[in-house]
Amino acid sequence: MADGSSETKSSNQMWGGRFASGPDAIMEEINASIGFDKKLYAQDIRGSIAHATMLAHQGIISAEDKDKIVHGLDTILSEIESGAFEFSRRLEDIHMNVEARLATLIGTAAGRLHTARSRNDQVALDFRLWVKEELQRTERALTALIGAFLDRAEEHAETVMPGFTHLQTAQPVTFGHHCMAYVEMFGRDRSRVRHAIEHMDESPIGAAALAGTGFPIDRHMTAKALGFREPTRNSIDTVSDRDFALEFLSIASIAATHLSRLAEEIVIWSTPQFGFIRLSDAFSTGSSIMPQKKNPDAAELVRAKTGRINGSLIALLTVMKGLPLAYSKDMQEDKEQVFDAAESLELAVAAMTGMVRDMTIRADRMKAAAGSGYSTATDLADWLVREAGLPFRDAHHVTGRAVALAEQKGCDLAALSLAELQAINPAITDKVFDVLTVEASVASRTSFGGTAPAEVRRQIAWWRARN
Ligand code: ARG
Repeated sequence: MADGSSETKSSNQMWGGRFASGPDAIMEEINASIGFDKKLYAQDIRGSIAHATMLAHQGIISAEDKDKIVHGLDTILSEIESGAFEFSRRLEDIHMNVEARLATLIGTAAGRLHTARSRNDQVALDFRLWVKEELQRTERALTALIGAFLDRAEEHAETVMPGFTHLQTAQPVTFGHHCMAYVEMFGRDRSRVRHAIEHMDESPIGAAALAGTGFPIDRHMTAKALGFREPTRNSIDTVSDRDFALEFLSIASIAATHLSRLAEEIVIWSTPQFGFIRLSDAFSTGSSIMPQKKNPDAAELVRAKTGRINGSLIALLTVMKGLPLAYSKDMQEDKEQVFDAAESLELAVAAMTGMVRDMTIRADRMKAAAGSGYSTATDLADWLVREAGLPFRDAHHVTGRAVALAEQKGCDLAALSLAELQAINPAITDKVFDVLTVEASVASRTSFGGTAPAEVRRQIAWWRARN
């Protein structure tokens, strides 16, 4: 905390005209955002260059002042990037830190940069630019994760594993099919990202404090220079809303939920009891006391990051829910939530991509588990419907008796003799054994979106054409 020296108490150089003294040290501490919004330095400088260029083009400032401003801002950019820039908490935020330095570098021309704008549209611009770039990074990261799954799915289009409901063995599926389920989830996450980019692709600069400006600015020009599709249409909305940040956090929360379910499966699959996969050394850790252990820490941390990301969404929703239009300082609390969630999501997606690429699939273990737990019982029931003309409910009952018998004998369905099966229902022939293996079971599920290897390959091809 700063002391109460006369320097701290001197009135602010940006608005000091109306103030006799500067802020209390506590006021300065609660008010300052430079500690985190310095992350927006590149966007702030880019925005100011576009604004100054437009002001000169419109004849609002001179070309000479514009040149000085642009040159000064370029200098500041390299100062920040080289670590030479001294950020000051007294100057509150990134916008005023940059502007104050510009004044030191170029003198009075710096004071013309803030013509026809306010920190309200400035911060809306900087933050939107940052979130847009983050969404683009997220899109690329998800594409890499989807690519990793497509490769594993292709390799294992025929590898059988148990499919589960209630985490109880349900029906055999292929590992490729299971991988493609995640491709669908992350594919939807990515399309949500693309839609969000479209929603937020409007430039806030020129909305000024909230009402627009009387200066003859050209908002289409700045929008274009900054890579936005068009300017925002309502100046009040422009400085009031943070739904682009909320949209990012919602998308991040949903993606994190998908990642967390996958992480949970990886944790389960890598136990000695399941033994479906082996994680690479690169994505696991050992134990300091138990030499035999290999722990799925990366998966566990991916699962845990979901908590932070969901927390950020709820935090910002709560900040925004009671705010009257237009800008309120509450909105300064938007950035840390988004920065933290973005960092967590990037790390989680990257770690998961690495785990998926590197893990060893233990096809023998998957196959053994796929055949246990009477996983082909539905195939027997379907066979009775198809070949013996039984209504499905009766076939279900007959199969239930066959399962009970197998359970009593401690064997699989396929290990029951024809005589034993015929004692339950005389319509059964030895052809039934063709459907009782796990391979026959998965091969038969050729319905659109089903688990048959041919169908999984069709799904993979569909995604390859789009990834
Ligand atoms: N640091 C502020 C924020 O992040 C910038 C906008 C300040 N605007 C104002 N009218 N005080 O929201």
